[in-house]
Amino acid sequence: MKKYILPESELPNTWYNITADLPQPPPPPLHPGTREPIGPDDLAPLFPMALIEQEVSQAPEVKIPEAILDVYKIWRPSPLIRATFLEKALKTPARIYYKYEGVSPAGSHKPNTAVAQAYYNKEAGVKRLATETGAGQWGSSLALAGQYFGLDVKVYMVRVSYDQKPYRRSMMQAWGAQVVPSPSEDTQFGRQVLAEDPTSRGSLGIAISEAVEDAAGRDDTKYSLGSVLNHVLLHQSVIGLETQKQMVLAGESPDIIIGCVGGGSNFAGLAFPFLRDKINGKTIDFRAVEPSACPTLTRGQYSYDFGDTASLTPLVAMHTLGHNFMPPGIHAGGLRYHGMAPLLSHVVQLGLVDALAYNQVEVFQAATLFASTEGIIPAPESAHAIKGAIAAAEEAREAGEEKVILFNLSGHGHFDMAAYDAWFKGELKDIELPESELTKNLKTLEGLPVF
Ligand SMILES: Cc1ncc(COP(=O)(O)O)c(C=O)c1O
Repeated sequence: MKKYILPESELPNTWYNITADLPQPPPPPLHPGTREPIGPDDLAPLFPMALIEQEVSQAPEVKIPEAILDVYKIWRPSPLIRATFLEKALKTPARIYYKYEGVSPAGSHKPNTAVAQAYYNKEAGVKRLATETGAGQWGSSLALAGQYFGLDVKVYMVRVSYDQKPYRRSMMQAWGAQVVPSPSEDTQFGRQVLAEDPTSRGSLGIAISEAVEDAAGRDDTKYSLGSVLNHVLLHQSVIGLETQKQMVLAGESPDIIIGCVGGGSNFAGLAFPFLRDKINGKTIDFRAVEPSACPTLTRGQYSYDFGDTASLTPLVAMHTLGHNFMPPGIHAGGLRYHGMAPLLSHVVQLGLVDALAYNQVEVFQAATLFASTEGIIPAPESAHAIKGAIAAAEEAREAGEEKVILFNLSGHGHFDMAAYDAWFKGELKDIELPESELTKNLKTLEGLPVF
């Protein structure tokens, strides 16, 4: 069979929370002022209580409300596809499967949590959401979700993406959102950054600071984050829960599970339900793939750090390049974040998940091989997972092993054609983060709590 489709009746009606199964708990988030563990009240200005409860929940399963399932059903369950043509091109004995999240209206996995966050905010009487976006995938997903539940959405879009991806901006506008480039004149922090550097390309860290400042300053507004947080990873688990059923349909059990990582949500969404099996004794190799230009897991420090540049967020224990990190303008805009989901960082620390980094030239080579064999033009972010899968399939070929490789194709690249254009013109260059810059950035962690 080429693809494995579940009927709507098989759509999972609970999300999976890995916290319940971890051999030891991750370090708690700390208040940025007191540096004591935060409580629900500390998060209340930014998030509705239902999401805060999910953030700290120890329950293994959380029920998905009917209203969210009704929206999920527009594109879920998403297909699991066997990459038979890619396998043939690679002459590998491995069997490669990919879960395709590009079928959502916004073209990626991000609506899985956007819809849930919009729903809980609406239920709590919130009128407006403020958020940031890097590549524009998250901003468009929240704009879409805002439409389903009648919420206004304001998006602070990292300047470099705002300029590179005008159609993502139009998409957000089509779904009724207000979009401004970040740093913007609309917040105190944005004005401060612009005063220091009027040509700032922006970063996710800066855009998060702007969105948090916006939400904290208005009674009708809450903040929404597209990755990193526990409740986001929880919502994304629907990906892995569906895939587990589809792998049974395929009569397979994955040996290697791969995803790209920016903040960690699509990787965790696919991987965590399977990681439960690994914690319970099964042998599965997990590989989180990031860009060499923003090597959070492979070269960052596991430390307490802020989630944003202005140091407004709680201090969280994660792999980080330092909250002032200004990533180079590589074409995988969604993978340019200085930190990583605390839950993913924790399982990497525990040795349950491995991390790999690839440069953008080899990633675009993988993307074009995939497009020319399987047909789908991947998002540059997702192409990192494809590169990881191709490398695993080549290892299997060298070893003569029939491995089963599963990866997450987190989105399509239809709004990333400017990046492909640069690639075809030979303009894309490999960018390694120099050691001196890394060391300089990590200095911003000095004085922060350690474990
Ligand atoms: C298609 C796609 N994949 C992956 C990512 C990275 O985010 P995460 O690591 O949270 O899945 C993004 C972020 O914008 C994205 O748009």
